Amino acid sequence: MSVSRVRVQAPSNIALIKYMGKKDASLNIPENASLSMTLKDLCTTVELEIDSEDGLGKDSVRWLNELPTQLPSLNPSLSFDVPMIGQAGIQRMCRYSEALPQIFYGSQGQARWARSKKTFRTANSFPPSSGIASSASSFAAMTLAVACAYSEDPVAFAEEFNESPQLRRALAVVSRQGSGSSCRSFEGPWVYWEEQSAAFMDSVQMPELSHFVVLVEAQPKKVSSSQAHHLVQTSPLWEKRLQNVHQRTLRMEEALRQGDLPAVSHLAWGEAWEMHELFHTCLEPFSYWTPGTIEGLHWLSSFLGEALPPIVTLDAGPNLHVIVERNQQDLWRERLKNQFVGVPILEDQPGSGASILSIE
Ligand code: DP6
Repeated sequence: MSVSRVRVQAPSNIALIKYMGKKDASLNIPENASLSMTLKDLCTTVELEIDSEDGLGKDSVRWLNELPTQLPSLNPSLSFDVPMIGQAGIQRMCRYSEALPQIFYGSQGQARWARSKKTFRTANSFPPSSGIASSASSFAAMTLAVACAYSEDPVAFAEEFNESPQLRRALAVVSRQGSGSSCRSFEGPWVYWEEQSAAFMDSVQMPELSHFVVLVEAQPKKVSSSQAHHLVQTSPLWEKRLQNVHQRTLRMEEALRQGDLPAVSHLAWGEAWEMHELFHTCLEPFSYWTPGTIEGLHWLSSFLGEALPPIVTLDAGPNLHVIVERNQQDLWRERLKNQFVGVPILEDQPGSGASILSIE
């Protein structure tokens, strides 16, 4: 019997210039370029076990939400067990994974897939509905796990993956088709994604940073980001948005290159508000904001005029992402704890993208 096991990890990422609205929904081609910071410990681990002699064929995909997280608890005061990927998410990923061997390795890959029994074990290091884009980390991890496990020589694949930005970028192109934002999780810490391809920005001069997520609301969101991409195009602000975001992206790139924290903070604030205004003004308006979000935004706005302001942003959800200079991390941890009493707060830092943990 021949069984092999590949374990990989991919982080989530947080966009400062948002991917919102698609030119082509079937391929997840974005309307505008986006720019994100790759995270480190807020991630998905996927273990793919292949029994190549089993011969059970393509129905033999098992998905087990049982992988104990590899990481020490990100925040010991948070109580969540092994966080789950929901049933709908599992189905979406199973459908996606089935197409991968053919995409990567043609008919031979497809034949290897069809002959083998596959078991996926997954875990996220963050709670569900936490305002962290779990589709970004899950699809990136899934893409990497299948590409590595079904290659002719997984060890050689891993070596190439560690050394070659080209391989990471090729995987990102495929992963994007599963979930757009996942293509920004293969490199880091700063990634620029336009049209088909995402790549690491090598000229950024930002200081060391820390990232907090204030979980003002733990309920699942009612409008998925995939629905939001569609709805925003019905907003009367949509045309203006397309003009604004182009200029803002150029200014953001320049501010990151210069390490100009006040400019990055100012641009990120405007960008997050503009995306949420689209939600609030589309034909069937909706909002992710809760009273806690609004109160939090109001409080955070009072720090934006400081010499070292926080970078504040939100994804398609109610929770607040606050990015600060690393040497202000302790100060901000205390500030956030005092302001958001009893509210869970996750902590992370910039990272360098997906990795292969082990091959057996
Ligand atoms: C608001 O990548 O989740 O987080 O491509 O439909 O899977 P699909 O959408 P998804 O959209 C993320 C949108 C966002 C902004 C961003 O991450 O840029």
